[in-house]
Amino acid sequence: MTITDIDVAKARAQTPGCERVLHFNNAGAGLLSRAVIETLTEHLRLESLTGSYEAQAAKADALQNVYASFAALLNCRADEIALTDGSTQAWHRAFHAVPLERGDRVLTASNEYNSNWLSLRRTCDRIGCSLEVVPNDVHGQLDVRALTNMLDDRVKLVAITHIATSNGMVNPVEAVGAALRGSNAIYLLDACQSVGQMPMDVERIGCDLLTGAGRKFLRGPRGTGFMYVRRSVLDRIEPAVIDIHAARWTGRDTYAWRADARRFEQMEFNVADRLGLGAAVDHALGWGVDAIEARILGLSTLLRKRLSELPGVEVRDQGTRPSGINTFTLAVRKAEDVMLKLRAQEINCSVTRIDWAWLDLEPRGITEMIRASLHYYNTEEEVERFVQAIARA
Ligand SMILES: Cc1ncc(COP(=O)(O)O)c(C=O)c1O
Repeated sequence: MTITDIDVAKARAQTPGCERVLHFNNAGAGLLSRAVIETLTEHLRLESLTGSYEAQAAKADALQNVYASFAALLNCRADEIALTDGSTQAWHRAFHAVPLERGDRVLTASNEYNSNWLSLRRTCDRIGCSLEVVPNDVHGQLDVRALTNMLDDRVKLVAITHIATSNGMVNPVEAVGAALRGSNAIYLLDACQSVGQMPMDVERIGCDLLTGAGRKFLRGPRGTGFMYVRRSVLDRIEPAVIDIHAARWTGRDTYAWRADARRFEQMEFNVADRLGLGAAVDHALGWGVDAIEARILGLSTLLRKRLSELPGVEVRDQGTRPSGINTFTLAVRKAEDVMLKLRAQEINCSVTRIDWAWLDLEPRGITEMIRASLHYYNTEEEVERFVQAIARA
């Protein structure tokens, strides 16, 4: 089986890490491309030679272009993008901006990201809101009909995750958006694991807020994230924090928020990382996210097939639409031990435990799984080597 469209040899030549590791931990962090590495190091050199603020001023246009790159990636306007230091930070900025009152209802799904869930639970308990989990359908993905039946005027927020950290299933986010059309609820989508591995279009999805990380399938630097804020929702939400970048100090006792989504940012940020993030988005756009998805799906299909042929291995992902995240359980071996054994052979994967995903794993009777997350620079030969390593582990 060969999956073409992407020039894999070129992609690997542009990715120094490919020479050393078999990297199936792209849901943790993708390998950096040379373009990103050069952008990062070049800017650090510039800072050291000219001074940090002066280097930032010299890169003003390039920094501006990062917003335009995200706008192209997500099909939105550049002024609907805010850049952050990570996905959780972006999500919290979005969530804590939504006005919630005692008696309001908040809907989420069983694959909600763990940190999001903790924040939803704590905030709803504190305010006196009801936090409700939309049931899954027979495929294990959010049941849109059940969601529709749960909607009423008291539902103020629907916060769901596109692809979980613990399950390669892809939630039907466009159908959710269609179900919410006309409702008062704000739609917050955690797209941390989907952006960069599949085409994303906020108009088709219909979300009001969307958050993600730079380091995963976008292959950007660690400690980077982003937030999309639909222009029409800007006046219905208010950032929980304010600084001199998010707002203007207009008089002794007055201030005015910035007019755009950057009111969710703060003044200080790592300039090299942000430029590196822009280079990563441009790199993904250069390949084309459709081509990236097609290659990832081809490789994932092959991996799932080969793994399911191994005795004692059960592939666990749910849903009607697969992704680059592949999870499986082993009958007798501890997932952590297997992961470490593979790491000693320079084969990277990761482990998902129940205390990271109670809502997803407990009903399925799973306590731990191995997660193998693939990207377009991985190869069919690596899939085979990985399967053999699992068989031997
Ligand atoms: C679905 C999802 N959301 C959010 C996050 C958190 O991202 P960050 O570590 O950048 O805050 C992760 C990280 O694994 C994730 O998988």
